[in-house]
Amino acid sequence: MSTGHFPFTRMRRIRMKKFARDLRCETILTAKDLVLPLFIIDGKNSVEPISSMPGVFRYTLDKVLEVAAQAQALGIPAVALFPVISASKKSLDAKAAWDDKGLVPIAVKALKKSFPTLGIITDVALDPYTTHGQDGFIDASGEILNDKTVDGLIKQALCHAKAGADIVAPSDMMDGRIGCIREALEAAGFHDTLILAYSAKYASSFYGPFRDAVGSKASLGKATKDSYQMDPGNSDEAMQEIALDLDEGADIVMVKPGLSYLDIVRRARDKFTAPVFVYNVSGEYSMVKAAAANKWIDEKKVVLELLLSFKRAGAHAIFTYHALDAAKWLK
Ligand code: PBG
Repeated sequence: MSTGHFPFTRMRRIRMKKFARDLRCETILTAKDLVLPLFIIDGKNSVEPISSMPGVFRYTLDKVLEVAAQAQALGIPAVALFPVISASKKSLDAKAAWDDKGLVPIAVKALKKSFPTLGIITDVALDPYTTHGQDGFIDASGEILNDKTVDGLIKQALCHAKAGADIVAPSDMMDGRIGCIREALEAAGFHDTLILAYSAKYASSFYGPFRDAVGSKASLGKATKDSYQMDPGNSDEAMQEIALDLDEGADIVMVKPGLSYLDIVRRARDKFTAPVFVYNVSGEYSMVKAAAANKWIDEKKVVLELLLSFKRAGAHAIFTYHALDAAKWLK
């Protein structure tokens, strides 16, 4: 039996003492790597639990300011806003999505006023605003109309930029939207508004709890997003999507979901020089919370290991519902 270079090479030597393990360490997770997603609702003084996402809430504006203060105090650089739109404001033409007096622009303005240095990221997609829960406009047969949808997304992105969003994040997967939004932002003088493109967004079953949270699950019914979100089996296609979005003017690209797609994150980092973010999505969060509630796993250790794995795979930043807890644990 060959023992290689043993005993000259002993991999365990450097693992024996903590000081050496610390020096050998390749990946460090900090609160600065995290983005906190926040669900916002109309009204006052209300914090609604989301049953499929224990520990995550829908906040009215006054309450969102309190959570943002916590996030900033913990060293989390940015928050990402997701609106919960009441049924009466949903429509086929999704026009509430670019209403300057809508939930998102009002929240952006308030957050920017109270926390000027906290990064504010807004989601550009029509699903919270459409009666059918799709990310775009549909025709009579239910198919999503790409170019017409892009026109809506442009209006939505401009509305967010005008309100003061630092980053607009198209999560809709329509073709050509990054270039069109970039052009519109430049033309309107928003030269410094960042675009975070959800470039590699998969048609995943891990979004279920999020759709409960924003109320799009009931609207969607049995319909799928397979004609615009990616097939989970594809990897080359993700590289093509990322290349296109960067070419169209994206500043940052996103891989979503995260845990089942770490290979995509790594490939993106190896292939491109642009920043790569990853979304630790709702279903991934809820699985951990369910196992932790049953005491089957050690929540703190598991969460920190998962978040570390995103960084090791190559992510520059991680959208995660664990952000507040993780930032506290990392202190
Ligand atoms: C859609 C959107 C989705 C998520 C955020 N924005 C998924 C979807 O419904 O297709 C999911 C995020 C999560 O699961 O945490 N624009």
